[in-house]
Amino acid sequence: MTKPVILTGDRTTGPLHIGHYTGSLANRLRCQDSHEQFLLLADTQALTDNAHDPAKVRRSVIEVALDYLAVGIDPARSTICLQSHLPALADLSMLYLNFVTVARLERNPTIKDEIRARGFGRDIPAGFLCYPAAQAADITAFRATVVPVGADQAPLIEQTNEIVRRINATAGHPVLPEAQALIPEAGRLPGIDGKAKMSKSGGNAIALSASPDTIRAAVRAMYTDPGHLRVEDPGRVEGNVVFTYLDAFDEDRAELAELKAQYRRGGLGDGRIKARLEDILQTLIAPIRERRAALAQDTDYVLKIIREGTERARARTEATRRDVIEALGLFRL
Ligand code: TRP
Repeated sequence: MTKPVILTGDRTTGPLHIGHYTGSLANRLRCQDSHEQFLLLADTQALTDNAHDPAKVRRSVIEVALDYLAVGIDPARSTICLQSHLPALADLSMLYLNFVTVARLERNPTIKDEIRARGFGRDIPAGFLCYPAAQAADITAFRATVVPVGADQAPLIEQTNEIVRRINATAGHPVLPEAQALIPEAGRLPGIDGKAKMSKSGGNAIALSASPDTIRAAVRAMYTDPGHLRVEDPGRVEGNVVFTYLDAFDEDRAELAELKAQYRRGGLGDGRIKARLEDILQTLIAPIRERRAALAQDTDYVLKIIREGTERARARTEATRRDVIEALGLFRL
């Protein structure tokens, strides 16, 4: 029995944060035995909105690889590989661009949101507009059927499947499988400022490699209930980032329920709930940070993991490239 294939990736724009951890990383860690898993260090995709800073994209390759290994991605079971060193992905991207229209790319809800968030206006890098086709190439090149992503990425998987159906229809037989997004049940973790998305560029993230001081400062600065001025006042739990994070990380559900009730009634100060959350986050992050620091001492080892993974991925993606070209009936020498 061959295992179903998982492919997922992260743009290499900086270290991963606790939003990744509660999001798709949790699913990836869970699937290491049940699935054959590939993790893509997406440096070429990172360039689609970071062309002004290739050095950041380069540096972040090791950062993200360190995060993967530190949280428990096991290179003996999961393959970590580098997008820019897999030429079949670029070839397939070019082929796929002929099976999607510009209008469809512009209508993609993920792309629309991201264009707005980045303030591109009319000056959208062409590579950015087209990255859904490249992501379709990533997914299909590995013949992945499961793609762990955050809910915001679901439209990209939908668009991948549209491209797959077009190519299969043109080929006259199912050369590529369709894929399914694996979306975390717990919704996305908001930023510490209460904004919907935690992101490094937004300055509202807590990195998985954060120092104890940074964690403390982030929790202190966390958005709570602006109407909760005195300890005796009743406070709001909904939209209160401290409680949202406690919901995600606090394992003592009974005590958490009691704290919420007390906060709603009044008589529970922000300082107390923040202290509790800080404790939990310090305990969660400390071992990750320590493993990461130890691994960072041995970049040769990390490079070896990425090299070997990329080799394995190269064989896999080249085979798919050949299959697609053959299925489309292009001329072959
Ligand atoms: N778009 C993903 C992100 O923003 C990264 C990514 C690149 C990806 N290729 C992928 C995700 C393939 C899933 C599958 O982080």
